[in-house]
Amino acid sequence: MTMTDAEFYRIYVFLKSRYGIDMDRKKEIVSGRLENYIRSKGWKNYTEYMNAVEQDHTGELEKKLVSLLTTNHTFFMREFEHFDFLRREVLPQLKQKEAAAKDLNIWCGASSSGEEPYMLAMLMMDFFGLEHDAWDTTILATDISTEVLKQAVQGVYAAERIETLPDTWKRRYFRRLSGGGQYQVTEELRNEVLFRQFNLMDPFPFRRKMHIVFLRNVMIYFDAATKQELIRKVYDFMKPGGYLFIGRTETIDRGKIPFEMIQPSIFRKKEGI
Ligand SMILES: C[S@@+](CC[C@H](N)C(=O)[O-])C[C@H]1O[C@@H](n2cnc3c(N)ncnc32)[C@H](O)[C@@H]1O
Repeated sequence: MTMTDAEFYRIYVFLKSRYGIDMDRKKEIVSGRLENYIRSKGWKNYTEYMNAVEQDHTGELEKKLVSLLTTNHTFFMREFEHFDFLRREVLPQLKQKEAAAKDLNIWCGASSSGEEPYMLAMLMMDFFGLEHDAWDTTILATDISTEVLKQAVQGVYAAERIETLPDTWKRRYFRRLSGGGQYQVTEELRNEVLFRQFNLMDPFPFRRKMHIVFLRNVMIYFDAATKQELIRKVYDFMKPGGYLFIGRTETIDRGKIPFEMIQPSIFRKKEGI
């Protein structure tokens, strides 16, 4: 099934305008990822398919399109240095600062199938230990893709996927499912994470400003202007003294946004702003 330039352009504009996803010069990737799905559902070409997507008022076809074209690749312990930095530097500071309110607002903005927010939740449990129940450290985890969110809510992972976790975490926060090859995150830990669908291009609906934001390995999809606008919104929704973590291969332009760089992928909103 060949994709004409006009068909590609239609999909490109659709994704760019609604999701900030920039597939410029990625025609082969786009056609490669959609072709089998389109064939299996019986559409004759990309035009017919896009007509169906645009006319589907349930939004299901649109969600599927986004799922097919974004990469949800993630894994436990990814860029572990960030979690280590949180434990050593960020949490001791925030614990002292918020000692009266005992409330930390943590947002994971591209949570995929849940590994990243569950890592954060395990870290919070470990860090606060016996004091944990006195604190509200619920993690808000959002993603555009409903498919990955479904997996994340269930918290079921194949044995190989949890292999790299420390044994203490595996024992404490995972239960082996009957059949053997899969593990589920305990209910206790699942209750520490609130999963919601959210498109980062939409106005932020949060009522409270964030102390910790993880926005890792998602800006790769966005062009410079979209990224800049997103980082500005994130900045505005952070508490002074709050920390932003981005992927270690990503960058942000601090020209217009006064984040303090702590490390190349760790930023802090200055106090007194
Ligand atoms: C490569 S994964 C990164 C997962 C995790 N943060 C990590 O670093 O391992 C990128 C995620 O971004 C999500 N995503 C892409 N565009 C998005 C958007 N406009 N709004 C919200 N999430 C988006 C994808 O669905 C995908 O799950």
